[in-house]
Amino acid sequence: MKSAVCPGSFDPVTYGHLDIIERASSRFDQVIVAVLENRTKSSLFTVDQRIEMIRETTQGFGNVIVDSWYGLLSDYCTSNNIGTIVKGLRAVTDFDYELQMAQINYQAAKIETMFMATSPTHSFLSSSIVKELAHYGGDVSTMVPPVVLEALRVRLAGE
Ligand code: PNS
Repeated sequence: MKSAVCPGSFDPVTYGHLDIIERASSRFDQVIVAVLENRTKSSLFTVDQRIEMIRETTQGFGNVIVDSWYGLLSDYCTSNNIGTIVKGLRAVTDFDYELQMAQINYQAAKIETMFMATSPTHSFLSSSIVKELAHYGGDVSTMVPPVVLEALRVRLAGE
């Protein structure tokens, strides 16, 4: 069985992530969406909340499971016998960082990274932009699924 992992912080999951996850799910027998910590970012949602939102929005794909991991992505892949990472590339600005990560993960454990070009509809989209817009009352309804929209409303009402 060919499995791939779609890793990320998913804080929160956006239509851009879901596009990559769905397309990966049509190319692999199983896709594991792994919620990991990105130590350079502070998070709005707990890992459990992020997992729940991803589960709700990917259940229709049929072959996607959601998991979390605290530690190195390469260790996660090795422990779960996964040889492929799938990541979306939005623009050339993503490339330097993603290339470095791909090289680190290959050197650490021979894990291959495959890049998928983000759909142009989503190329400007990021979780950080969604959080910033939502914080100031901007409309993010075209950027995230309804379950995330509601979670943002509840979470930001408390601020
Ligand atoms: O959605 P993001 O924030 O771009 O995802 C980045 C993430 C979480 C995939 C990356 O930070 C990561 O792999 N973190 C786990 C620790 C790790 O393996 N770092 C790479 C080696 S330094």
